[in-house]
Amino acid sequence: MRSVVVCILVVLVLSRVVDVRSLNPSLNDDVLGLIVFKADIEDPDSKLASWNEDDDCPCNWVGVKCNPRSNRVTELALDGFSLSGHLGRGLLQLQSLRKLSLSNNNFTGSILPNLARLTNLRIVDLSGNGLSGHIPDDFFNQCGSLRVISLSGNHFSGQIPSSLASCSTLASVNFSSNQFSGPLPSGIWSLNGLSSLDLSDNLLEGDIPKGIQDLYNLRAIILQKNRFKGPLPDGIGDCLLLRRIDLSENSLSGNLPATMQKLTLCNYLSLRGNVFNGEVPYWIGEMKSLEALDISENKFSGALPPSLGNLQSLKTLNFSRNGFTGSLPESMINCLNLVELDFSQNSFAGSLPAWVFMASSQESLFSVNKMSGNTSQSLSSKNSHSELEVLDLSSNAFSGEIPTAVKSLSSLRSLNLSGNSLVGAVPSSFGEMKAMNVLDLSKNQFNGSIPLEIGGAISLKELRLANNFLTGKIPTSLQSCSLLQSLILSNNKLTGPIPAAMAKLTYLEYVDLSFNNLSGSLPKQLANLPNLMSFNISHNHLQGELPAGGFFNTISPSSVSSNPSLCGSAVNKSCPAVLPKPIVLNPNSSSDSSTGSLPPYLGHKKIILSISALIAISAAAVIVIGVIAITVLNLRVRSSTSRSAAAPTLSGGDEFSNSPTTDANSGKLVMFSGEPDFSTGAHALLNKDCELGRGGFGAVYRTVLGDGRPVAIKKLTVSSLVKSQDDFEREVKKLGKVRHHNLVALEGYYWTPSLQLLIYEFVSGGSLYKHLHEGLGGNSLSWNERFNVIIGMAKSLAHLHQMNIIHYNLKSSNILLDSSGEPKVADFGLARLLPMLDRYVLSSKIQSALGYMAPEFACRTVKITEKCDVYGFGILVLEVVTGKQPVEYMEDDVVVLCDMVRGALEEGRVEECVDAKLKGSFPAEEAIPVMKLGLICTSQVPSNRPDMAEVVNILELIRCPSEGQEELV
Ligand SMILES: *[C@@H]1O[C@H](CO)[C@@H](O)[C@H](O)[C@H]1NC(C)=O
Ligand SMILES: *[C@@H]1O[C@H](CO)[C@@H](O)[C@H](O)[C@H]1NC(C)=O
Ligand SMILES: *[C@@H]1O[C@H](CO)[C@@H](O)[C@H](O)[C@H]1NC(C)=O
Repeated sequence: MRSVVVCILVVLVLSRVVDVRSLNPSLNDDVLGLIVFKADIEDPDSKLASWNEDDDCPCNWVGVKCNPRSNRVTELALDGFSLSGHLGRGLLQLQSLRKLSLSNNNFTGSILPNLARLTNLRIVDLSGNGLSGHIPDDFFNQCGSLRVISLSGNHFSGQIPSSLASCSTLASVNFSSNQFSGPLPSGIWSLNGLSSLDLSDNLLEGDIPKGIQDLYNLRAIILQKNRFKGPLPDGIGDCLLLRRIDLSENSLSGNLPATMQKLTLCNYLSLRGNVFNGEVPYWIGEMKSLEALDISENKFSGALPPSLGNLQSLKTLNFSRNGFTGSLPESMINCLNLVELDFSQNSFAGSLPAWVFMASSQESLFSVNKMSGNTSQSLSSKNSHSELEVLDLSSNAFSGEIPTAVKSLSSLRSLNLSGNSLVGAVPSSFGEMKAMNVLDLSKNQFNGSIPLEIGGAISLKELRLANNFLTGKIPTSLQSCSLLQSLILSNNKLTGPIPAAMAKLTYLEYVDLSFNNLSGSLPKQLANLPNLMSFNISHNHLQGELPAGGFFNTISPSSVSSNPSLCGSAVNKSCPAVLPKPIVLNPNSSSDSSTGSLPPYLGHKKIILSISALIAISAAAVIVIGVIAITVLNLRVRSSTSRSAAAPTLSGGDEFSNSPTTDANSGKLVMFSGEPDFSTGAHALLNKDCELGRGGFGAVYRTVLGDGRPVAIKKLTVSSLVKSQDDFEREVKKLGKVRHHNLVALEGYYWTPSLQLLIYEFVSGGSLYKHLHEGLGGNSLSWNERFNVIIGMAKSLAHLHQMNIIHYNLKSSNILLDSSGEPKVADFGLARLLPMLDRYVLSSKIQSALGYMAPEFACRTVKITEKCDVYGFGILVLEVVTGKQPVEYMEDDVVVLCDMVRGALEEGRVEECVDAKLKGSFPAEEAIPVMKLGLICTSQVPSNRPDMAEVVNILELIRCPSEGQEELV
């Protein structure tokens, strides 16, 4: 049997013999036809697996139905089977076929020319395929009993075949969404059985021919989106059964034919986007079944007839973009089912009709008209059952205040009152409107301040209050509107700072605060806003440094212009090297004259120094250094004498001080270890060539002690922030006691009131940053070296935390590698030397390295604990494994390392994150758990991060899994 069929297939394909019965009369025609049909197509999902040529009859095959008596195929329905290929001639074997439904596949090629001649065929649905080409002009000539044909959603082109007119059995024709062109065939109106004609979305053109009244069965005519022109024929009113008329998006013109008033069954009429003109006729009130009426974007004019009030089934009404005048008919209060109405962009006058707030209505648009009157009444409580969700009264001439009772419109999602003449305050009751997404009050005359209560409008996505007379501050309560995307407050008289809380609005995209009187400095945390597209603060009195990083690296100069005291690259003005803010010097010295007032976070009774005073101090410091150097050199000359009252004196013991004078050029040098000879290396302090680097706390220089031992000297630039001498010494001594293999040891210090030096062990191998990102050391670090670095860092931090010292300033440039690659953590605990652990200072100055900063620094209500180091450590782990910086700037993108790794982990491709330089030479069973550990350490919530001691244990388990397990037991 199989061989017979194969043989026949070959014959069929080669010779295109259609009548196979003569070859093998025993073979079921339908099996053969379907197998041939299947042979022509692709079936990627094997949907047709049940189609087996060895079967005697196809009636149990998927998609096939038979007449139970004759066992002949009557129905083939393969909709959405993902089939592709050509529609083959095998189909023509199915002589009893009544329904052919192949919609939503991928069939291509042309239509079978003889398809309509299958005498029993009633329904053909080929919609949603990729068929193309012309339909032969005689396609419908012997159309048998065809009733329904849909070719919708293909690529057919050319004219609609004239033979269509001869297919008198047709009830439904759907040729929509193709590229048919040319005119409607003249005989088409003779198809008097036709009930539905859909030719929408083609390139058909010309007038709509006369004679449509012959289609007395017509229920739907859809000619939308073609190029028809000229008037709508009168006869349309005689198609009395018409329910749906869609002539939108053509170029039809003239008045509406009066016969249309007979269409009392019609529930959908769309004439949108044509050039119809004249008035809306009074008889429109006769079309009583209308549920949707859209005559938008035409040239209609005049006043609306009161008869609109008779359309009691009406649900949606769109009269926008015409030339209507006059006021809106009161009679529409009878349209009790209205849900959506759009009267925008006309010239309607008069006041807002009460029926706008009818119980059923959800969307009411009146923008760009000439409506007026006082809104205080219309927006108040009489409408307590209102379900209105969208109200747009923008660009009219409404006046008065917004009443507190506006809150009774509790379903409102969008309220646009912009461009009117409204006055008074922005009511605080907006805070009770929990559903509000969009509030636009711009371009009015509102005054007073933005109510604090606005924070209650927790669904707000857009808040637009621009171009009013608003005063006062931007309320911090806005941080409760956590979905906010657009905040537009420009052109008001707002004062005060930009609240740091804004940095919590992570969805923010558009912010415009320009043309106000805002002052203060910009919260640094704003740089963390991930979705920012535009941030305009121009024309204010903001000062200080622009936030660095994120969107602010590419902010356009015009967005920040006209703030005379703002500095940063975008305003083309460099910021002073020292903190641009007033700085406290010695809290115990005189209460001498000061400039400006005390910032609240710096406490009380302290002297403020202006920038010029700071410059003077820096100059003094240079002089002091000079004096030290000279005296040190003197010392060297008289190496063995010890009569140097005005020079730094070297201490051999734990504590040694020469004279307790406060003279500027006498100081106190303490070495914790004993035997120093500082004199040999002191010149290095003046030698910029020996500068090793600069950090948040100051510059670091290399020098050599008398015994030839190199040390690193850190000159504290935040010197004026340091506490009193006693406090300084107590803290430094405490740090000096911290000793660990993986910590850079603090060996001693030098103190004068205006200059402080810290003397550290010198580590020769350069910073981790340079190894990872600048290729220091030639070969990149191997996996083992990286693991060593990670575990060493972890141990040192565990040790610090055990001694109750928080590092505060972890970053790869603070991790040094010694000559054998062993990591040594530097710069720990220096925050203790500040007068207070002010978070602003910590986050802005010390934690300046973007990306390492734990999120709690941005949040004043969360206590900073050693868990902030765990966060920084987690970032370092990811940096070491991936070789990427915590935040990297691409052309128009910012990649945040921990987000990237987290995303990759979720998608199961975290291995791809490992530094490409390690390709093929790292053990995945170590690298992956290490990255996971890094992610856990960077948990947003501090308490979710492990302790450093736990981290050390975990790392040891990861390194030797088997031993680790034994240890656990
Ligand atoms: C049709 O084919 C294209 C590629 O040729 C494919 O992307 C698409 O998913 C297919 N559509 C269906 C419905 O199978
Ligand atoms: C024509 O076919 C398309 C696609 O199947 C369908 O969306 C549309 O509703 C049909 N038109 C009519 C009047 O049924
Ligand atoms: C009313 O019609 C206009 C133009 O055709 C359209 O832009 C607008 O979205 C419609 N209004 C509604 C509420 O659907």
